[in-house]
Amino acid sequence: MLNKTVSLIPDYSILNKLTQLFGPPGTERVVAEYISTQLQPYSNQITIDTMGNLIVRRQGTGKRIMVAAHMDQVGIIVTNIDKEGFLRFSILGSIPITALNKQRVMFRNGRIGVISIEKIEKLTDLKLEKHYIDIGASSRKEAGQFVQIGDPAVFVGSYTECGSRLISKAFDDRIGCFVAIEAFKRLKTAHELVFVFTVQEEVGTRGAQTAAYALDPDLAIAVDVTVTGDTPKAHQMSVELGKGAAIKVFDRSMVTSPQVKRWMSNIAVKNKIPFQWEVLESGGTDSGAIHLTKGGIPSGVISIPTRYIHSPAEMVDKNDVEAAVNLLVALLESSAEL
Ligand code: CO
Ligand code: ZN
Repeated sequence: MLNKTVSLIPDYSILNKLTQLFGPPGTERVVAEYISTQLQPYSNQITIDTMGNLIVRRQGTGKRIMVAAHMDQVGIIVTNIDKEGFLRFSILGSIPITALNKQRVMFRNGRIGVISIEKIEKLTDLKLEKHYIDIGASSRKEAGQFVQIGDPAVFVGSYTECGSRLISKAFDDRIGCFVAIEAFKRLKTAHELVFVFTVQEEVGTRGAQTAAYALDPDLAIAVDVTVTGDTPKAHQMSVELGKGAAIKVFDRSMVTSPQVKRWMSNIAVKNKIPFQWEVLESGGTDSGAIHLTKGGIPSGVISIPTRYIHSPAEMVDKNDVEAAVNLLVALLESSAEL
């Protein structure tokens, strides 16, 4: 099982495939099935729990370490269909209001729609309720043949490589799933590994919450995206694309403990893995839920610097992706004594 030789260059065709799978919060099954197929030869046991989390285990005699990456992506959910066949919708997760207009969205059955907006007088009228989706239907009856109330949809956005930079929808958090998959394939460790590909992170870290309680790990690491401060007149933030994996210090869901920070940075330095410290002033990750489980679980986060998060065109740098894989492997192969 563990003697497979594994290439050290990640297989980006897997990332391409992951980004194009349909997985809004609560509808992650096809993502789980794909990841399960990828990791089956490397794992002792794979299960899907009540919430829909995919749990991939490898036996070991050391610490039980949980790695979490969320399978869901932001999306929309249909709230109403009017008599002309236009759809109204709400948001699954958070999407900047300016990222919606004139974007394509896709439903589970492959039906495409265009988001547009009613005539507005001023920019302050740019509200969610002014937007609608046009799926090419001319009546409620016709629309109803393709889309029902409560159906979710996700942005359309192909996977593209631009030199070392990659652009796609859903890098949040298929890039984290990809890093976890690559690491799991390469890893040789005495620790007991519990890799959890979680559901419903974007609506409130719900899958991670129940999984952490059930699995009761000694230690946890989430792998997720973080924003950058390296674009024109960006919000002040020190994280930059291409400067390495980010080690989280703080976000709205967690203050990383000094022991965890020291462990993660010491391992990065020892293995010459480029890293940067991350202080994120908004948002959170699965570790926010995991570290508050039971009596508290020591938790860290490896973040992949990402521009244009929660849009159809998120951007990451391959060098950061590879640093994140290397850091995760090195952490899990270490003694993990904090
Ligand atoms: Co997100
Ligand atoms: Zn995320």
